[in-house]
Amino acid sequence: MLFEILALLLGLVHFGVPLTYYTCMKKFTKRPWNIKIDPSYRPAVMVVIPTYNEAAIIEDRLNNMSMQDYCKELTEVVVMDSSNDDTAQIAENWAKEAKDARTKVIRQGRRDGKARALNFALKSATEEILVIADADASWPGNALTEAVRWLSDPTVGAVSCLKKPLSAGPGGMEEGYRRYYNTLRLGESKAFATPIFHGELAAFRRDLLLRVGGFPENLGADDSHTATKIALLGYRAIIPETLWCEEVVPRKSDYFSWRVRRAQHLILHFLESSRAKPKGNFAWIIAVETFLHLINPWILLMSVLLVILAAAIFHSLVAYVLVTIGLVLLSVNQYRMWLAQQSNLLFAALRNITNKEIVWKKQIK
Ligand code: GDD
Ligand code: MN
Repeated sequence: MLFEILALLLGLVHFGVPLTYYTCMKKFTKRPWNIKIDPSYRPAVMVVIPTYNEAAIIEDRLNNMSMQDYCKELTEVVVMDSSNDDTAQIAENWAKEAKDARTKVIRQGRRDGKARALNFALKSATEEILVIADADASWPGNALTEAVRWLSDPTVGAVSCLKKPLSAGPGGMEEGYRRYYNTLRLGESKAFATPIFHGELAAFRRDLLLRVGGFPENLGADDSHTATKIALLGYRAIIPETLWCEEVVPRKSDYFSWRVRRAQHLILHFLESSRAKPKGNFAWIIAVETFLHLINPWILLMSVLLVILAAAIFHSLVAYVLVTIGLVLLSVNQYRMWLAQQSNLLFAALRNITNKEIVWKKQIK
């Protein structure tokens, strides 16, 4: 019976902590922002599109960018390219045609990771705000205006977006995942700051980027870690409910490697961030997110192993019942999504030992 009790206790912790956190964050989403918007704030903005072999979509991305309703004279778009396909050429041709779009292309010559590309752009930037815009994302026309609006309060150091997947992913998994995580991002932002940002749109004050030493080149999660460092300086790093981006989801055969690589980078980010000494609400946000990314998946694994052992060795009725409940629950989308994410985090932790994927394999979308 010891195995079953232990398994139940571990299961209770594994599901109890995220459920409690989710309930708590959901309440926070209803709180006020305590942010003062200054509608007259009009800073100069550099938008950086890092590209590695994006020939198939770069034109769409640049067209999408040119639809922004933020003042064109204040916006410079830089394509930071390290492709070995025609991305740079296509972007250059596009820029020649659309002169008022103030777009330039920088060819890096060789590929050495997204963070290095961003740091290269940061070095040459003079604008007050720097925005990362991944190539495979699509922004609504008011995205820049909206990001700048939130940055008009000097207590806000960084702003990112909620994400809408363009397809539901295998078995509707991506959609379930986003519904859950968007709520967490918004709740954390209202509580103070969210430690997870999205490179599909991530806007930073340039002076703060310089203060935190630019984008981390050894962690992968350039967006999240930079936002967290800015929050650790005492500035808010937020994802508001008014800012949404669309994101292309890789095809089924690449979906899991995509999720595992992203999980690898979040693990590296929280490993590093958990060493910091955050204050106030951000202290428990970092504590819970670190627990959820680094420890909680292992608690589930232990719980499952104990149940399987109890069933196989002791033929325990309680263990059989627990296995049956676990299998029946697989018909629930959110539960399947959760288990998949836990196994991604487990694979990711192991994979980090041999390959941190700082320069990563491109997934086919
Ligand atoms: N210049 C340059 N050099 N750009 C790169 C490189 C590189 O070595 N590698 C990737 N990129 C570009 C891609 O072309 C794309 O525009 C963007 O960086 C993001 O890469 P994706 O391949 O689309 O990865 P993702 O959507 O999973 O990225 C997410 O996770 C990353 C961490 O794993 C985003 O949130 C990223 O912001 C985050 O860095
Ligand atoms: Mn992407």
